[in-house]
Amino acid sequence: MPEPIDIDSLIRAVQANPRYAAISPNLIRGLIERYQGSIRQPRELIKAVRNKLHQVGGAYLDKPIDYAQWKSRLDHLPHDLRHPQVKEFCSQMMSLHASTRERLPILERFYAEPLTRLQPLHSILDLACGLNPLALPWMPITPQTQIQVCDIYSDQIAFLQQFFDHLGINGKASLCDLTHELPNRPVQVALLLKSIPCLEQLDKNIAVRLLREIPATHWLVSFPAHSLGGRGKGMRQRYRQRFEEIIQGWQVRVEIFDFPGELVFLLSPA
Ligand SMILES: C[S@@+](CC[C@H](N)C(=O)[O-])C[C@H]1O[C@@H](n2cnc3c(N)ncnc32)[C@H](O)[C@@H]1O
Repeated sequence: MPEPIDIDSLIRAVQANPRYAAISPNLIRGLIERYQGSIRQPRELIKAVRNKLHQVGGAYLDKPIDYAQWKSRLDHLPHDLRHPQVKEFCSQMMSLHASTRERLPILERFYAEPLTRLQPLHSILDLACGLNPLALPWMPITPQTQIQVCDIYSDQIAFLQQFFDHLGINGKASLCDLTHELPNRPVQVALLLKSIPCLEQLDKNIAVRLLREIPATHWLVSFPAHSLGGRGKGMRQRYRQRFEEIIQGWQVRVEIFDFPGELVFLLSPA
């Protein structure tokens, strides 16, 4: 009989590589459980899990982020979200993650155009947020706006909470694995930016579940207009079709914002 696999020691083995050390153990556990029926060799199993974690998270980072160093810079910043020094810090940090880096050239318009009409914004939920909470200085929020953000990296989440605390943002950053558990607090605007293709690599039905089960009044959903490698042929058209499939049969008003590099949909009650 094959040896029973000890999942906790496999999780630790996956996390032994610094690139995966901070990733949600729940996500790693789910992947091990999924692969262990078909991959019996622990070494191969660890490799398969790490490959998937790279696809859904690591591929967006050129290298692991030194959060301690960014935290010491944060400590010296003014406690004012709109201060030019704070915005410069946020831009520099957003350039460390491919998704936010690509958005930098359109940041002045990206939130103002779809969200200004929804003011006052009282609550925002940023799902699979990456470093996008550092774009808060460009969002039409007030100090009262409640911000919730989540992603799979514990070090990133700890840093984002420090960022909120330093700037007096009414915010909560949480570790999550959206394939296992969904936030359930009602929210005015949920952001699901460039993450559907990535989450669908873990669960083909996740987009419909997120949009139907999370109690958000408005959704800002986006898709990348080119791949991480820079190829863009047909992507807008393909993702537009995919989005139409996802919202099929749903009574909802859709506005489209076709930004360079990113195709954005604002969903509101019909
Ligand atoms: C393409 S990036 C988008 C980041 C951010 N939304 C943006 O647009 O700047 C995809 C994000 O999904 C996160 N992610 C991957 N799997 C996840 C999961 N199971 N639960 C929550 N977040 C996940 C990754 O860590 C990564 O930050």
